[in-house]
Amino acid sequence: MSASIAPLKLIARPVGRLEGRVRAPGDKSVSHRALMFGALALGETVVTGLLQGDDVLGTAAALRALGAQVSRDDDVWRIRGFGVGGGCEPEQVLDLGNSGTSARLLAGILASHPFTSFMTGDDSLRRRPMQRVIEPLSRMGARFQSRDGGRMPLAIVGTDEMVPIEYELPVASAQVKSCILLAGLNTAGETTVIEPAATRDHTERMLRHFGAEVRVSAVEGAPGKRITVVGWPELRAQEITVPGDPSSAAFAVVAACIRPGSDILIENVGVNPLRTGLFTTLKEMGANLTFHNARELGGEPVADLHVKGGGLKGVDVPPERAPTMIDEYPILSVAAAYAQGATQMRGLAELRAKESDRLSSVAAGLAANGVRYEMGVDSLTVHGTGATPAGGGVVATHLDHRIAMSFLVLGLGTREPVAVDDGSPIDTSFPGFAALMNGLGAKIGPT
Ligand code: S3P
Repeated sequence: MSASIAPLKLIARPVGRLEGRVRAPGDKSVSHRALMFGALALGETVVTGLLQGDDVLGTAAALRALGAQVSRDDDVWRIRGFGVGGGCEPEQVLDLGNSGTSARLLAGILASHPFTSFMTGDDSLRRRPMQRVIEPLSRMGARFQSRDGGRMPLAIVGTDEMVPIEYELPVASAQVKSCILLAGLNTAGETTVIEPAATRDHTERMLRHFGAEVRVSAVEGAPGKRITVVGWPELRAQEITVPGDPSSAAFAVVAACIRPGSDILIENVGVNPLRTGLFTTLKEMGANLTFHNARELGGEPVADLHVKGGGLKGVDVPPERAPTMIDEYPILSVAAAYAQGATQMRGLAELRAKESDRLSSVAAGLAANGVRYEMGVDSLTVHGTGATPAGGGVVATHLDHRIAMSFLVLGLGTREPVAVDDGSPIDTSFPGFAALMNGLGAKIGPT
């Protein structure tokens, strides 16, 4: 998976209004979890709407290496699980490509099995911090060898005699929370995670759906939650329908917002309140964005999003909103470039630990396209003037899908086209991105 492929330069040209009706691809977070819980359950789990992105395919391959039977027939995926603690030793190094979610969540599963396993990833993933999972899993009894600074490749010496812990997360991270809860499944007693701020709760929702006992309570005087999983549950196979990914829908939403006269409908988007910070922010900016046909799908709230273009103004985004829109700051920065007035974003330290140092990648992309900004250690202010941004830049994506997609959206309204040096990482989360956007009236393609 991590073999280098030739970079794919893409360009977006300015267009008029966007129009049409589309469906966002399956939610990446929910897709990873559906496969993993299917593997940890007994019986056959059937998943529809799964994201067919490289990241999720990497998780499927790793689970196969652990002994799960994972097959696909068109849009229907079937997983015959090995049960909690029932995985077998992978023969090969697990290559998780670009996917931090695969690496961190699987680390929890691997560490709670009595064998040694190895994982690696692409240039981006090998730079990302793994100490944040090594630390709690070591307290539970696993041992690790990593490169300096807790970077991958990683050797995980697991155990099936883990001790339950109560662990306060130093950073608000759904990946780390999920990693510990997954390890807690094959641990006697109760494993508890305390988060400093509430992060996406797909793991908790899905664990319950599969039959585990999960208790969630508020933390007194703090915004976070306390989550406890009871070890050794018998997880039972389920049918799961994966909702559309709000983080992918975000690109079409912002594209419509920045092209006056646009009118689009995105069907079937997950609107879990711990994921919708961008939509809240866009509404505060004056976007004409409405939710319709709200319903539940596989334990997650979904809705159709109707967006009409035009009329954005700058706002101050509160730092406490960051966990609910952590992946959306690049595309929000694009919206801000088209707004009238400054948009201030704070509490962004975690952006530096994503697929790229996203704060620096966004800043460089804005600079290359004539958009004024100020960057701090954990903040970014984008100065929109209401005038058309210049464009004309070539943006370095640094193996970061969201940087690629965000700056291609920027180019739909700039004076000059905007190019990205490598659009191939888009396939990690949003295969068919250019086709979907072009179906709405965008002009995105190879240079
Ligand atoms: C994810 C959690 C977030 C997010 C990532 C997916 C998940 O990462 O950025 O794209 O599925 O749990 P962190 O936990 O590092 O914030």
